Amino acid sequence: MALVEFTCNPLRPPVEGHLAMMRTFLLWLSEQQGVFNFLRRNSLARRFASRFVAGETSETATAAALDLKRLGITTSLDLLGESVTRDAEAIGARDEYLRMLDRLAASGAEINVSVKLTQMGFDIDEALCVDNMRRILTKARELGGFVRLDMEGSAYTQRTLDFFERHLLAEFSKHTGVVIQSCLRRSADDVTRLIGMGARVRLCTAAYHESQGVAFPDKQDVDRQYVALMEQLLRHGNYPALATHDTRMIEHARDFVTREGIPAERFEFQMLYGVRRDLQERLRKDGFNMRVYIPFGTQWYPYLMRRLAERPANIVFIFGNVVRETLALKP
Ligand code: FDA
Repeated sequence: MALVEFTCNPLRPPVEGHLAMMRTFLLWLSEQQGVFNFLRRNSLARRFASRFVAGETSETATAAALDLKRLGITTSLDLLGESVTRDAEAIGARDEYLRMLDRLAASGAEINVSVKLTQMGFDIDEALCVDNMRRILTKARELGGFVRLDMEGSAYTQRTLDFFERHLLAEFSKHTGVVIQSCLRRSADDVTRLIGMGARVRLCTAAYHESQGVAFPDKQDVDRQYVALMEQLLRHGNYPALATHDTRMIEHARDFVTREGIPAERFEFQMLYGVRRDLQERLRKDGFNMRVYIPFGTQWYPYLMRRLAERPANIVFIFGNVVRETLALKP
């Protein structure tokens, strides 16, 4: 209904034009290291960022996970940073993940993390990446935890799935899973194959700009494929994770599982930290498993800018909150 009204609105072209310009500007800003260096020293900017990023350390991220646990919401922690180019950076990130797993176990928070292969040295040396990931998985298995391989741009899709299948699936099947993006044309085949292997899949739309050759250019097709893959995973998948904030997708999933008699414990919804907190709590209260992806770390700036580019209205919303909280704190 809202869509029809919007389509008929004569103001739509200029509004959309401004939004597109704002998005492009925010994405450009996300790549400006100088701006980040300036903002990182600014306490107001750090408070602004804290809406979407749970601080710079695994202590602050674990505290956020424990807060959500009190609401019955599970979590997955993500150390921000990707595409490292030096061995030492990959090993540093691996060690941070190993410490994080221990910290989660000691704190009583859920032991669940998300990892990007390019942060573990995928582009430097595959053997290094295998070693890093196997150490993380071995520790996670010892602690009864779970490690999700995030999916990066389409240049990595086949490599990531091969890596998962060759190096992790057989030995760590209960402790690891992958991500499939509904924007990619290939994803229907990938989902069928992953279901056949009994692999755990998180389904999302995609956070990366892709060419028309590999991805559907039209959002309607991306959504149509999301629905089809979601239904297939709900029927035949191994505890699928539906990662979306789109209420139409969520309503569809709810109707579908009711119609098909699929119990709520057979799947989970997933959302990003700070996005649609109202909806996260409502789904949990309605009896669904709800997991929140908690990013943290010093590399928060590009992540924050991408979230703002997805929904520029958040700038006003968060800025309003920060000002209100700052005024309330004044003696
Ligand atoms: P969509 O963009 O379709 O918007 C639908 C509605 O959601 C909006 O109208 C608004 O109400 C709300 N919304 C969306 N973004 C918002 C925001 N920033 N602030 C406030 N409201 C917002 N991608 C990827 O390529 N690889 C991966 O591994 C992952 N992993 C991942 C894990 C989890 C837990 C989530 C939730 C998402 C990912 N993603 C991802 C990102 C995903 O592909 C996608 O970019 C975002 O989820 C946005 O798409 P949606 O379908 O959620 O909302």
